[in-house]
Amino acid sequence: MQQHYYLLIAKMKSTTIFPLLLAVSTSTSCAQYIRGAVDGLNAPAHSNENHSDESRTLNTRIIGGANVGGEDASYTVSLKDENGNHFCGGVLVSYNAVLTAAHCVGEESGKEGITAVVGRPNLNIGSVGQELKVTKQLLHSKFRASGFEFDHDYALMFLEEDVSVPVDIITMNQNPAFPLPGAKVTVYGYGDVDDSKKITRLSREVLKADLRVVSKEDCEAVEAEFEGNNVTLAGYVDGATMICAKHNDRDSCQGDSGGPLVRHRRDGSKELVGIVSWGVGCANEFPGVYAAASSAFRWARRTICRESRKPHHQFNCEDKW
Ligand code: ARG
Repeated sequence: MQQHYYLLIAKMKSTTIFPLLLAVSTSTSCAQYIRGAVDGLNAPAHSNENHSDESRTLNTRIIGGANVGGEDASYTVSLKDENGNHFCGGVLVSYNAVLTAAHCVGEESGKEGITAVVGRPNLNIGSVGQELKVTKQLLHSKFRASGFEFDHDYALMFLEEDVSVPVDIITMNQNPAFPLPGAKVTVYGYGDVDDSKKITRLSREVLKADLRVVSKEDCEAVEAEFEGNNVTLAGYVDGATMICAKHNDRDSCQGDSGGPLVRHRRDGSKELVGIVSWGVGCANEFPGVYAAASSAFRWARRTICRESRKPHHQFNCEDKW
């Protein structure tokens, strides 16, 4: 397994610099996980159910999640690796395009063996929904895993063919002024209900958690102990490309990355405002940080208009661009 090591610099109260080592695999065929003190930060997860390698951390869950019930959250995608293990979430934004987090892909594009599971709220019910091979993966050119955070954490995965089961393709927010701080948003992902660190059992059902948007200022002002150190996000939240969101005991977590953060409008319509990107641990004082959909729209539009035969109408590919 190939790994790149990033030096994590966590700012501490006393302005001391605290270096941490983060291992990010560049191969989607094996787990991306964190070693050492920051277990729980910044990596997509693989189930370790089928692995004897104890160094792998199973950390795939929405903490404090609820079932989606009758709600149609079929724009939520489960990405599976070549061994059939869920490793990240994704969002269906066009008939053949899944928006996900770039850190789910790694630094190179074109990995083999990834499958997108669409329209399957319960992964055990294989007769529902559809599995489609990912034939192309394109990372946002400004994606950087720059230490504590991911910048421009966007990737598009193109499917072997258009989705042919009834699924809800979600519209991306284009307005950088939204969502406002305090707005209610919902994150979706496939994960375990157990918030203990030693997870052994995945919930195979898509879960959701209602959160509130936190302003960049409030997000950066949070200062709390994490694994024995005082940590703050000051200087790490880019207001143009990141959205913070939290709720006391609910959060997205490892393995939810790439999945949707959605704003439900009063008229019943919904739009994608972000995708799960990074955080410091999960379901603690720190908000989760999401890659803003608005700052990915132009790139997504250009890419999807170029790569799709039948692009979703939200991209207006016929218009000049
Ligand atoms: N980077 C994680 C992943 O790859 C997601 C972390 C989200 N963390 C949080 N506290 N909301 O799945």
